[in-house]
Amino acid sequence: MSEVLSVQGLEVEFPVPGGAFRVLDDVSFSVRDNEIVGVVGESGSGKSTTVRSVIQLHKPARITGGSVVFNGRELHRAAPKELRRIRGREIGFVAQSPFDALNPVLRIGKQFENVIRAHERASRGEIRARALELLASTGIPDPARTLDGFPHELSGGMAQRTVIALALSLGPRLLIADEPTTALDLTVQRQVLDLIRGLVREGQRSMLLVTHDLGVVANYCDRVVVMYSGRVVEVGDVATVFGDPRHPYTRTLLDAATTDIRAAAPKSSPAKRETAPGCNFAHRCPRADGVCAEERPPLTVTDPGHGFGCHHPLSIEVTTSAGTSR
Ligand SMILES: Nc1ncnc2c1ncn2[C@@H]1O[C@H](COP(=O)(O)OP(=O)(O)O)[C@@H](O)[C@H]1O
Ligand code: SF4
Ligand SMILES: [Mg+2]
Repeated sequence: MSEVLSVQGLEVEFPVPGGAFRVLDDVSFSVRDNEIVGVVGESGSGKSTTVRSVIQLHKPARITGGSVVFNGRELHRAAPKELRRIRGREIGFVAQSPFDALNPVLRIGKQFENVIRAHERASRGEIRARALELLASTGIPDPARTLDGFPHELSGGMAQRTVIALALSLGPRLLIADEPTTALDLTVQRQVLDLIRGLVREGQRSMLLVTHDLGVVANYCDRVVVMYSGRVVEVGDVATVFGDPRHPYTRTLLDAATTDIRAAAPKSSPAKRETAPGCNFAHRCPRADGVCAEERPPLTVTDPGHGFGCHHPLSIEVTTSAGTSR
């Protein structure tokens, strides 16, 4: 399977008074054709920064190292004009709150016109026909009425379906969704995720799906990237990573899966993150020792494509047979 997106050694910083705060440190992962890749980790771990950095949508964050290659093109070097062309047309983006993505004072139909006309010439009739089809495909019951109305007339679920239809209106190869259902109630969440998965699979697209919900990863993703404090700590097939987690943080996440991982831990301070030479997880890790405090654990990759960054990884045998972390 070929790779649609390859992120290697990504470093991202936010400017802060008197310097820079490094938010991402050596983040690497890939997304292959027709694959849904989940990005998980507690709040502040850098999930949004990671996926938004792919299309440089996270101002004022700056990519200071590493590479982002999409469909053979180096996005980290791309000029703003090229990025604008790729955003929307080749990479669609769906954020957490649909009402942030929709312009409150424009009718939905006008918003389809704006998105589509930014990239191609099309008559109003053509755009309307395409928009009606897309809205219908996202399960909106009365597409014509939606198209003629304003965002505030929509429920959260219908608004998010509208945003998804907009994101797909130019047929992007990759869809990036950053917690697309967090603002919705549980039943609607499932409907919207089922919908996105269907549209991704049918359209032969790929998706990068940020979520704090491991159940969503288990149900909707092929592979998973586990982030902690600006680094990738474990990556691999969902069944492998969830079945045989090797990184203690992944184990902690899985153990806490019944609770809300957004509240799982305090955020680490920027100063600590930038200066700590060893493992970022050491202050919370039951297996930490002197090496962990001194040396940053490299990402070890085992077959088949399972990677984890830990000096003392959990052992598969013990984890699977005893079901414990040690
Ligand atoms: N605009 C910003 N300026 C400075 N720091 C930021 C900004 N946005 C996010 N951060 C910091 O970057 C880190 C990662 O944030 P984020 O990518 O939003 O994490 P997540 O999506 O996993 O919750 C956090 O420590 C957050 O405080
Ligand atoms: S490197 Fe050390 S501190 Fe970090 S997760 Fe592994 S055992 Fe824990
Ligand atoms: Mg986020």
